[in-house]
Amino acid sequence: MGDHVLEVSNLTMQFYGIKALDNIGMTISAEEFVGIVGTNGSGKTTFVNVMTGYLTPSSGSVKVLGREIGGLHPFHLTRMGVSRSFQIAQLFLELTVEENLLLSLAARENVYRKVRMPLKTKHYLKEARELMNLFKLEKRANSKCLELPGGDRKVLDIAMAFALRPVLMFLDEPTSGVSTEEKFQIMEILVEALQERGVTVVFIEHDMEIVQKFAHRVLDFDEGKIIADGLPEEVLQN
Ligand SMILES: Nc1ncnc2c1ncn2[C@@H]1O[C@H](COP(=O)(O)OP(=O)(O)O)[C@@H](O)[C@H]1O
Ligand SMILES: [Mg+2]
Repeated sequence: MGDHVLEVSNLTMQFYGIKALDNIGMTISAEEFVGIVGTNGSGKTTFVNVMTGYLTPSSGSVKVLGREIGGLHPFHLTRMGVSRSFQIAQLFLELTVEENLLLSLAARENVYRKVRMPLKTKHYLKEARELMNLFKLEKRANSKCLELPGGDRKVLDIAMAFALRPVLMFLDEPTSGVSTEEKFQIMEILVEALQERGVTVVFIEHDMEIVQKFAHRVLDFDEGKIIADGLPEEVLQN
C-alpha cells in the first residue's frame, strides 16, 4: 500500500442534513490520471475541497503519501505536495501572465522557506518563462489576464498550481466554459505538462468525450457516493 498517493476510507462530509460525501473509500496510485464525473450536486467539488484542506471532513480518513491530512490547512497540503485549480480560474486579472506566475513562485518559496523574495530576479523570471513554454502561454507573457481568452485563463490557473511543485493535483473542471475545440487543446497541454512529468492528476470533467479520451480511470459520483470506478469505456457505458 506504500505507493498510494491518496488513500481515502469511510469519508463523510455532512452539511447540516446533507451528506455531500457519504462513506467514500478509494485509493489512487502514483501517476494515475483520474477523471471524476457525476451529476450536479453529486459531491465532486466537495471531494476536491476535502482533499485539498478547504473543508475538514465530518468523519473518516484521508491519507496523502501515507500521512493523515484531517484538519490540515491548504497551506500544509501544498507543502506536502497537493495543489489544485478552481472551477473558476483564480487569477490576478489586472496583472500579466508572467506576473501571475511570479506570484505563484513567490507563494511557493514562502511555503517552503518562509522568506520574502524579490519577484523579478533572473532566476524566477527564467522559471516563469519555462512554465509559460511548458503550458504554451509564451505568446501571452505580457498580456493582462483580463485580455486572455477563457482557455488560456484555465491553463494559467493550472500552471500556477503546477508552479508549487505538486505530487498530486486536483483540477476542478479544467475545461468548463470553453469551446469544444479548446477543451481538447487544454487537455493536450495538461497531459503533456503534467502526466509526462509524473504528477498524479485527478480532474473533474463533465464532457464525456474528454473523459473518454484522456482519463485512464473514471470515478462516477452520485449523491455523495462513488457508484462506479474503472476504465473509461466500462464506466461510461452505464
Ligand atoms: N459549503 C456548503 N454548505 C452547504 N452545502 C454544501 C456546501 N458545499 C456543497 N454543499 C452541498 O453538497 C452537495 C454537493 O455539492 P458539490 O460538491 O458542489 O457538487 P458537484 O461539484 O458535484 O456539483 C450539494 O447538495 C451542495 O448543495
Ligand atoms: Mg462542482
